[in-house]
Amino acid sequence: MEKTIEENKQGTSLVLEQKESNKKKLFIESYGCAMNFSDSEIVASILNEQGYNTTQNLEEADLVLVNTCSIRDKAEQTIRKRLEKYNAVKKINPSMKVGVLGCMAERLKSQFLEEEKIVDMVVGPDAYKDIPNLLKEVEEGRDAINVILSKDETYGDISPVRLNSNGVNAFVSITRGCDNMCTFCVVPFTRGRERSREPQSILQEINDLWSKGFKEVCLLGQNVDSYLWYGGGLKKDYEKASAMEKATAVDFAQLLEMCAIQFPKMRFRFSTSNPQDMHEEVLHVIAKYYNVCNYIHLPVQSGSTRILKEMNRQHTREEYMTLIDKIKTIIPNCSISQDMITGFPTETEEDHQDTLSLMKYVKYDFGYMFAYSERPGTLAARKLEDDVPEEVKKRRLQEIVDLQQELSLERTKRFVGQTVEILIEKESKKSSAHWSGRNSENTVAVFPKENYKVGDFVLVKINDCTTATLIGEAVGLSEMQSN
Ligand code: SAH
Ligand code: F3S
Repeated sequence: MEKTIEENKQGTSLVLEQKESNKKKLFIESYGCAMNFSDSEIVASILNEQGYNTTQNLEEADLVLVNTCSIRDKAEQTIRKRLEKYNAVKKINPSMKVGVLGCMAERLKSQFLEEEKIVDMVVGPDAYKDIPNLLKEVEEGRDAINVILSKDETYGDISPVRLNSNGVNAFVSITRGCDNMCTFCVVPFTRGRERSREPQSILQEINDLWSKGFKEVCLLGQNVDSYLWYGGGLKKDYEKASAMEKATAVDFAQLLEMCAIQFPKMRFRFSTSNPQDMHEEVLHVIAKYYNVCNYIHLPVQSGSTRILKEMNRQHTREEYMTLIDKIKTIIPNCSISQDMITGFPTETEEDHQDTLSLMKYVKYDFGYMFAYSERPGTLAARKLEDDVPEEVKKRRLQEIVDLQQELSLERTKRFVGQTVEILIEKESKKSSAHWSGRNSENTVAVFPKENYKVGDFVLVKINDCTTATLIGEAVGLSEMQSN
C-alpha cells in the first residue's frame, strides 16, 4: 500500500528560518493531509511573530503543538501515542506547554482539556489567529480553547513560513472546508463549510515563492474544482451574490489558467479533485498549458453505483467512467490516481468486484487505499451499521492493493525508452549518488547526479522501472529551466 503521510509514525518535525531575537522554542509536528502540513506553516508564521523559533528537539521546547488528523481511527490513535510522549517529557520539564491543533481539536473540543487533562490548549482549524491570545490564557494558568469554525477565514493575509522545505515544491491553499457531506467523512464537521481564497492573495503568495526560487506549486483544497471566488463568503451563499460579484467571479479553471500564464516557468499541480465538480474547462487548461501537470488525483471511493449512493457521492459508476474517457481524450497520457475505501457498510462481494473492474477500466497510475473506519457523528455512523467484518475489509483491501501494484507497474513501464522532464527535488533515498524528482505525470524518477542540482528541470532518458519509480540518466536541461 502507498504510504500516506499519516502513517509516518514520527510525524514530521518542522524547521523554520530562525529569527535571532526570538527566545522561545516551538516544537510543531503535523499528521494527516497536506492541508495540515500547510496549516502548520501558517501557525509557525503566527508564532514567529510571538517570539518563537522552531526546534526539532522535543526536550528543549517551551511549546509543543501537534496538528492532528481525525480521518480514520488509526490516525487518532497515532496522535494519542504522541500526546502520551509529550506528557512524559512534561513530567521532566513542567513549564512546557502542549497544544493540540487541527481536526482532532475540532472533533473532541474540550475533551482533552476537561476530561483527559492532557493538553493546555485546543485550537480548531479556523482559529489559528487566536493563538497569541490563547497563549496568554495558558501563561496565566487557564485552559485555552477556540474551536469556532469561520465562514470567511482563509489565512490569505498570512505569509506562511516554509518549514522543512527543499526550496523547490510548495503547497498553496486555495479553499478551506468542504460542503460535500460524503457520509463516511469527518472533514465537513472538523473543517467547516467551504470557502475560497481571494485569487490575488494566491497569486501574490506564488509570486513570493517564485522570487525565492521555488519551481513547483500544488494548489490545495479538499475539493479544488469547487473553487469559486465572488467577493468572499461561503460557497453555498454564491446564489445570493450580487450581479457584479457574479460577473467578476473566478472559478478553478480560470484560477489555474491565471497561474499558468503568470508563472510560465513554474509547474502547477492541484489536489484534490472531486468527480462531481470537475468541469471540462479544467481539462482544457491542463491540455493547453505545458506547465500545468498531466496528473489528476480523482478519488472515487468505490466502483459500485449502489455504494456510491450510500456514500452520498453525486455520481454513478458510469458517469465516472464517462469523465475518465473525457480526460483521456482531452489529455492523452494524463495520469490518474485514486482514493478507495473497502468495506463500507453493506458492501457485498459483488460491489467489491465492481471496484476491481473499475480500477482495471481506468488503469490508475497509483492510489491510496483504506479499510472503512467508522467516524463518530458522520451520517454513515448514525444511519448504517459497520457490518463488514474486519477480516473481510482487510482481504478486500489487499486485493485492491495487489491490483493497483499490477496497474502501477504497467503504467511505469510505458515510460521506459522515453525521455521525460524531471524537476529535481532531493537526493534519492537509496543512493547519495542519485537525484530524485517527478515528471509531469507525478511519477518519481531517479538518475545519477552529474553536475545537476536541486531545482533543475532535467530531461531524463528512462531505461528501467519498478512499480513506483523510473530509473534513467540525464541528457540535458529542459526548456522549463529558467537560468
Ligand atoms: N477531499 C479530501 C478527501 C479527504 S479524506 C482530500 O483533499 O483528499 C482522504 C481520503 O481518506 C478520502 O478520499 C477517503 O478515501 C479516505 N477516507 C475518508 N474518510 C474515511 C473513513 N471514514 N474510513 C476510511 N477512509 C476514509
Ligand atoms: Fe470528505 Fe467527501 Fe469532502 S471525502 S473532504 S466530504 S469531498
